[in-house]
Amino acid sequence: MTMTHEPARSDETTSSARPVARRTMLPLLPMQGHTSGKRSAVTCHLKCADACFHPVPNTSDNGYFRDIVSASMSRRTVLAGAGAAAAAIVIGGTVAGDAPPAAAIPGGNGGKLAFDPIAPVPASVDDVVVPAGYEWRSIIRWGDPLFSDDDGFDPQNQSAEKQARQFGYNNDYLDIIAEPNGTRGVLIANFEYTNESIMFPPELDAAERSRIAIAAHGIGVVELTRSKKGEPWSYVVGAPRNRRVTMETPFTFTGPAAGSDLLKTVEDPTGTTVRGTLNNCAGGTTPWGTVLSGEENFNGYFRNPGATPAEQRYGLNANGDGRGWRDVDPRFDGIANPEFRNEPNRFGWIVEIDPEDPTSTPVKHTALGRFKHEGANVNIAKSGHAVAYQGDDERFDYLYKFVSKDRFDGSSSPAARAHNKTLLTAGTLYVAQFSGDSPSGEIDGTGTVPSDGQFDGTGRWIALVVDGVSRVPGFSAAEVLVNTRLAADAVGATKLDRPEDVEPNPRTGRVYVACTNNTDRGVPGRKEGATEVNPRNRNRDGHIIEITENGNDAAATTFGWSILILAGDPATNPSTYFAGFPADKVSPISCPDNVAFDSKGNLWISTDGQPGTIGLCDGLFKVPLEGAERGRVQQFLSVPQDGETCGPLIHDQDGSVFVAVQHPGENGSWAAQRSYFPDYVAPGALADGNWGGPRPAIVQVWKP
Ligand code: FEO
Ligand code: CA
Ligand code: CA
Repeated sequence: MTMTHEPARSDETTSSARPVARRTMLPLLPMQGHTSGKRSAVTCHLKCADACFHPVPNTSDNGYFRDIVSASMSRRTVLAGAGAAAAAIVIGGTVAGDAPPAAAIPGGNGGKLAFDPIAPVPASVDDVVVPAGYEWRSIIRWGDPLFSDDDGFDPQNQSAEKQARQFGYNNDYLDIIAEPNGTRGVLIANFEYTNESIMFPPELDAAERSRIAIAAHGIGVVELTRSKKGEPWSYVVGAPRNRRVTMETPFTFTGPAAGSDLLKTVEDPTGTTVRGTLNNCAGGTTPWGTVLSGEENFNGYFRNPGATPAEQRYGLNANGDGRGWRDVDPRFDGIANPEFRNEPNRFGWIVEIDPEDPTSTPVKHTALGRFKHEGANVNIAKSGHAVAYQGDDERFDYLYKFVSKDRFDGSSSPAARAHNKTLLTAGTLYVAQFSGDSPSGEIDGTGTVPSDGQFDGTGRWIALVVDGVSRVPGFSAAEVLVNTRLAADAVGATKLDRPEDVEPNPRTGRVYVACTNNTDRGVPGRKEGATEVNPRNRNRDGHIIEITENGNDAAATTFGWSILILAGDPATNPSTYFAGFPADKVSPISCPDNVAFDSKGNLWISTDGQPGTIGLCDGLFKVPLEGAERGRVQQFLSVPQDGETCGPLIHDQDGSVFVAVQHPGENGSWAAQRSYFPDYVAPGALADGNWGGPRPAIVQVWKP
């Protein structure tokens, strides 16, 4: 393998090339403060407000008995009872009839992205490792200026005003939308959260530190340029579409809950507008060219009484806001400032932003429900309706989909685009209920494959709100949409092991759900044990579910499913499963988080938590889904120490892969950093725009 590196490059208007520095390879350190599940304790605290150290917020008892009952029914029987849609018979995890032929997609050779898998990388390596013949470099890093070189990065002299004009911290979702000639494009990235202890010197004023941290959240849009297709991109300072969306950016609420009393505060007595977006995790680019972004662990930013079932279900409590934001903005403290008690209701949504129009007002779509949104990804149903798949990233929480009331207009006119931008404002919100087809006695929590050869079954989408009308007894439509978790509890949704990214494969329409892990499953006194769709107790390594909508129609109300992968290191873990592919011939993989597809329909998986589970740096993996190589996990890259691989983007026809490297060196401190990615200059040094400390950054990998 090669570990080549060139420093981040700006553009025609910014810095000249910086000297290439030798990477600092830190000595092998004992694992510090790792949790029993996955992430480091620091990441748990900062990223998701210690969600895994609190009692599971889903205390409902739905799901479990249903799974037992369903186990006595064969999958085929269930489908046969599904009426006309049952014309498609599920065989071996695919739907015969409308599904594309299994041999249609070559899995292995990789075209311009052919590669030999890298060897697993120990968790102490502070580098990006890519396959032999490939190189990497950062396109844009935390602190790079978007609008003027005057905002150049200096962590010793950072200010909120500068940060609001720079690339934010901890990039997660990533897309690059290239123009047809391939030499210009626009990059969109989410900035999920901050780690003040490695971002700033400790003597920085606390209030200013909070203001900078607030400004480092949100979304960034920046234009890219390159000499020709296949070459690496550079970003353009001051380009017309460059934009920073922050906690001060005005948003408009759309959909049935807009204007609801549940969304009103003293600052917005109409319940129709809100300042800002936060904890933006993953997302998806829509077929009409806008970007959806998921507001995830919003509860960690607010101090609220935690007195109501809704507040408790969302993890809001009086101990919230360990970040000090309430010291600089009263809306983050609903106890001291009860006139802001509804402020947390104004986060946890899917936001939509138009990267083509920096003057547009981004929106929050109430029709898609409120929970800890990992993201949302849209497919267009045969009928033309837009279908958005969404995961609620918490242990024992749910999978959702939204089907638009109106139809997608595929023409290229401005009117069509304007119409399409309204598709997510009205429609039907569903939650998923899974049934297994094997006897419950065969699902023993060890991961042993049942006698029918698969963890599989059927499912149905249960409607929560249809065209603005609640289908949940005792809930108004606004109550369903604002307190969606409670509504889903009431209808018997199926608890999953932290459903994160959920994406339809553009080549087949099948939907892939990354369940990152759930070490509480099956723990005595901690709720539900193994079910066929969550077949391992103390699920440390996570799994991936493959869903085939009935008739291969994204708008269907029933589906078939099977487990594609039970992740882990097969060398030490006998409970792994790779769609039947020999476990001794795959790369070890743990904690699948985000997924992506290449143009051939191969699945790519990025991970979040491998250092804490299998002692390896997080990485990016390719998995063919068809033919003899189905299930063959092959590692493409790994990210630096303590980092997470986010936003994978596979431009295989261009020979490029992109990842957002999030929280490198997370477990360090200002005085003792643990990563020098991506600049790799001397610790603490600042020269020519490079810094001797960790900087979350967007990385491009290509073959020169
Ligand atoms: Fe922000 Fe679910 O990861
Ligand atoms: Ca089965
Ligand atoms: Ca994630």
